[in-house]
Amino acid sequence: MVQQLWLRCEKKAFERRSALTPTTAKKLINAGFEITVERDPQRIFDDAEFEAVGCTLVSNNSWPSAPTDIPIIGLKELPASDDPLPHTHIQFAHCYKKQAGWASVLDRFRRGGGTLYDLEFLTDAKGRRVAAFGFHAGFAGAAAGALALGAHRKRERLGPLEPYLNETAMVNHVKEVLGGSGKGVKALVIGALGRCGNGAVDLLRKIGLDEDDIIKWDMAETAKGGPFQEILDVDIFINCIYLSSAIPPFLTTEQIVAAGQSRKLAIAVDVSCDTTNPFNPIPIYDINTTFSNPTVPVELGNVVPSLSVISIDHLPTLLPREASEQFSADLLPSLLELPKRQFSARVWTDAEKLFKEKVSEAMGVQHT
Ligand SMILES: NC(=O)c1ccc[n+]([C@@H]2O[C@H](COP(=O)([O-])OP(=O)(O)OC[C@H]3O[C@@H](n4cnc5c(N)ncnc54)[C@H](O)[C@@H]3O)[C@@H](O)[C@H]2O)c1
Repeated sequence: MVQQLWLRCEKKAFERRSALTPTTAKKLINAGFEITVERDPQRIFDDAEFEAVGCTLVSNNSWPSAPTDIPIIGLKELPASDDPLPHTHIQFAHCYKKQAGWASVLDRFRRGGGTLYDLEFLTDAKGRRVAAFGFHAGFAGAAAGALALGAHRKRERLGPLEPYLNETAMVNHVKEVLGGSGKGVKALVIGALGRCGNGAVDLLRKIGLDEDDIIKWDMAETAKGGPFQEILDVDIFINCIYLSSAIPPFLTTEQIVAAGQSRKLAIAVDVSCDTTNPFNPIPIYDINTTFSNPTVPVELGNVVPSLSVISIDHLPTLLPREASEQFSADLLPSLLELPKRQFSARVWTDAEKLFKEKVSEAMGVQHT
């Protein structure tokens, strides 16, 4: 039987990314899949790009009337509703960690008889996620940090950020703001060996920093325990760690105040965004910033120069085309296994097992 897959539209505001791209759709079609794509003016890819590779285009948001044996793929949460969900959905549902409304979302699946394969929990044999947006979060975070440094040098605050059409446009804009190149800027990336860290380092190289001016730290370098003077000696600090346990802070307000004017640090980008975590290693701010207001000043009293933090928790949206291409390409090997999802494809059978556990947990909550 031919494997079908239905790419739904995204309804979350400003979300321009897509779980399938024309490139991955074509690869699936070449492997014998039939791909249906909902028209979506919000998506960074034109509908015509999907049509050109052989997808069948259907109207926006028409998946509720799709045959229930066709899996529906999307990225972000479905709009809030009480309607039962009879389909199989592949998406980020943000309902497995007891987020607000988690039990009612899972109950919609239970009542409809549908299945959720949550993209955040598709893992390889070693337990690592098969697809994640980290690289472009780091890349975009570093770009935002460099733009904020450009504003800081003019004693201004960084204005609203808008998604870029592609990576070249982002890199060129950042270079222009820094006067043609980032050469001379010093940056320190912590978590440099991870997905976000790699992306941050890549952006810093592409805007022209000298390799010696990109200081790359990971577990080995932070083992001595913070706070770290080295962070105060660069222009931009980018935190990209995966926080899994209590660690001493990397940076504190007292340390910054004590350094006075000897501090070089102007911008801290917290890509990890453990803002409300009690072990946030950068306890110098306490809100997430946004595309419309990307920086928050650190309260330092009369101490100069100023210091700003960027703590945007959806950075890959700034680079929707490349972020989608990379995510979708990483997801492709698992998608190719969809025909075996109920029997032998471990990535899917594990995800279904987890879904069933979460539904049972939610039922307990719904009935108390
Ligand atoms: N802001 C956003 O838009 C956005 C988007 C995607 C991911 N994230 C977040 O970014 C974080 C990193 O994600 P990732 O996919 O890059 O993770 P990852 O596991 O690929 O990389 C994390 C890196 O941090 C290092 N690390 C962990 N603890 C450290 C410590 N104490 N000192 C130094 N290095 C340490 C690890 O060795 C690893 O190299 C996660 O918290 C994730 O939720 C944020």
